[in-house]
Amino acid sequence: MTSLEHPNSGPLATRIVDLGAIARNIGRIRDITGTPILAVVKADGFGHGVIEVATTALEAGATWLGVATVDEALAVRSAGIAAPILCWLADPWCDLRAAVSAGVTISCANVETLEAIAALGDAADVHLELDTGMSRGGAPEYAWDALISAALASSTVHVTGIWSHLALAADAEPGSTAYQVKAFERGVARARELGLAPGVLHLANSAGALEHPDTWFDLVRCGAALYGIETVVGLTHALEPAMRVVSRVTQLKRVAAGTGVSYNHAWVSSADTTLVLVPVGYGDGIPRDLSHGGEVVIGGVRHPVVGAISMDQLVVDVGDAEVALGDEVVLLGSPSDGEPDAQEWATVTGTIAHEILTGLGGRMARRHTNKTQRTFS
Ligand SMILES: Cc1ncc(COP(=O)(O)O)c(C=O)c1O
Repeated sequence: MTSLEHPNSGPLATRIVDLGAIARNIGRIRDITGTPILAVVKADGFGHGVIEVATTALEAGATWLGVATVDEALAVRSAGIAAPILCWLADPWCDLRAAVSAGVTISCANVETLEAIAALGDAADVHLELDTGMSRGGAPEYAWDALISAALASSTVHVTGIWSHLALAADAEPGSTAYQVKAFERGVARARELGLAPGVLHLANSAGALEHPDTWFDLVRCGAALYGIETVVGLTHALEPAMRVVSRVTQLKRVAAGTGVSYNHAWVSSADTTLVLVPVGYGDGIPRDLSHGGEVVIGGVRHPVVGAISMDQLVVDVGDAEVALGDEVVLLGSPSDGEPDAQEWATVTGTIAHEILTGLGGRMARRHTNKTQRTFS
């Protein structure tokens, strides 16, 4: 069989993104929260393709997009997407003029950024970020009044929202977000007291949206849930993983018991077996820690990754299974079909699914599909 005739011909490895799954995940979030959704599309849509995800999310009912950097916001605008965009990592040295001209809403967490926007002299929408307990971005409570006063002092900067970010929402315990909700409400009340009309209020991430109604306010900012990642420990919400990663068997060999595999012979076969080579590695974002405990699916059956994962390739022990050159290898797929998902990789490697998905890429191709509607039972 020539390469062109083989069903798995084409790139050695491909990320297949099901935009239908993203649309259905938006539907799930909307059904649960009944609250407008900001779709977080930073980091190239968590590796799923920022423009494709943004377009899909808006068509599925999201009303806002969220990105980290000005460049990400401008890339969305360059694709002709006119929806509201919030950009939350701008500082005075970013291209604020380009962002304001493109109608991007910039988040401000300090007076310096707000004043740099005011100095442009053009009308600009901003959302003020309050730190309610994450101790990462956001104005600390002691600097909140000064930030509000700087906004009130400008005739061109318009505060159209106030927001904050949750630290503990992944805990399903209902009280886990309460202290941040209280701090947020205090900050909003203080803004009103000082004469600011706070606009759109938003606090929830995916975990907040799915499990903590007290965090919903006017808008829920969802990243992980869009892509099918369940972020609340031990709970599922019928989300569908949107990314499938497939490769193929490029080499097969039969080895005797006692054969050491890959660098340092970190794994040695305990019996005669068949090893297959899969042409992806840590250079494509496959975590090297999957060398111990990672599994792939070939012909509907799970098989272990063995030996150290290399930059471009990994080895799978298929035992005595009937596997042929060119067979599809599913690295990431759907847990409901018994395939590993990003959460499984995250558990094996001691990280979170966000890091797995945003780390994938390298030389892998990416293709978008839109599978027909599935119904939830
Ligand atoms: C400011 C902000 N809001 C919302 C999100 C979405 O969080 P999650 O992916 O857990 O929904 C993120 C990160 O992804 C973020 O940085």
